[in-house]
Amino acid sequence: MIYFDNAATTALDTEVIERMYGVMKNTFGNPSSVHAYGVQARALIDECREKVASLLHVSPSEIFFTSCGTEAINMVIAGCCNDLNIHRIITSPLEHHAVMHACEHEVKLGRCKVELVKPDNKGNINIEELENIVKNGERALVCLMHANNEIGNLLSIAEVGEICRKYNAYFLCDTVQSIGKFDHDFKENNIHFAACSAHKFHGPKGIGFLYLNGDIKISPLLQGGGQERNMRPGTENIYGIAGLAKAMEVAYRNLEADVAYIKSLKAYMVKRLKEVISDVGFNGESEENGLHTILNVSFPETRKSDMLLYNLDIEGITASGGSACTSGSVTESHVLKAIVADLKRTAIRFSFSKFNTMDEVDKCIEVIKKVS
Ligand SMILES: Cc1ncc(COP(=O)(O)O)c(C=O)c1O
Repeated sequence: MIYFDNAATTALDTEVIERMYGVMKNTFGNPSSVHAYGVQARALIDECREKVASLLHVSPSEIFFTSCGTEAINMVIAGCCNDLNIHRIITSPLEHHAVMHACEHEVKLGRCKVELVKPDNKGNINIEELENIVKNGERALVCLMHANNEIGNLLSIAEVGEICRKYNAYFLCDTVQSIGKFDHDFKENNIHFAACSAHKFHGPKGIGFLYLNGDIKISPLLQGGGQERNMRPGTENIYGIAGLAKAMEVAYRNLEADVAYIKSLKAYMVKRLKEVISDVGFNGESEENGLHTILNVSFPETRKSDMLLYNLDIEGITASGGSACTSGSVTESHVLKAIVADLKRTAIRFSFSKFNTMDEVDKCIEVIKKVS
């Protein structure tokens, strides 16, 4: 089996497994308890929060652990409408459903309107058009993703942050695909809110966090206890938190080498695909400029192309068709629909990690030759 679906989720790093195992064995107290077991669990969370914050150059008080990226995003969108007097959200048709559906929900509740900035046919956001939208209207929340999970396009977050600074807009940057893969500076880029999900960079599922700029106060999504400084009730997932912090530590320790290695895998895959498939194409910016982990390949229409993803799976190659987060069923991709003119071609997203090898790329190419 060859796993090329790392944008959907990644395998756990051995160091993460070992860290989580250690915590599971030795630290089971409830962090809210005042006895020694509780104090030990509380200290663990504090230590993890400090590690995460230092890797992102922010204050520990700006990190709130959540169950996933989706939860963090929902907290921000609801919080802006409820608490920050925001009734206008500017976003794009290429966002993850976590953003799109949370925005639609606010529209349904009558709390805001949504304005879309149109991408070009490569999936890029026109910065001038964005500026025009931001400046013409009331104070807005701009929700745009840093790295697109389907086509890998990267947003110029510095430019978007600058526009938000100029027109006093809030900036929610969906960094779920880019944390652990980029050295972030939220302050420099004027990002007020960012979301993280540990399973995208070899950490566990069921844990993420919200970065919330320290000058901003929003209310929690759930009602309950006072965990996460009254922002996220519910007994903390200490195993997940420990795994997340370890995954971040490993990711940032080896960042440069991992990025260079994964880039070389992707470049090799592009080269080989061009050699074996005439008329192969690449959706979005994934061929060259996009996120190093994502390659969205556009295969020409053939007798067998409809079955390509399925046949790859039969041959032991795991990739993805539509959006990964609805994996299991291949649904039509709203991202490709928004940018790709010829939907008759078959799009397959191959997404890589440090655990993949050149040999796997070679094997994959052999299978593609056979089944395409
Ligand atoms: C860009 C992006 N945002 C948000 C999410 C949601 O993350 P989670 O499934 O951890 O809630 C994903 C998941 O694939 C994603 O790729």
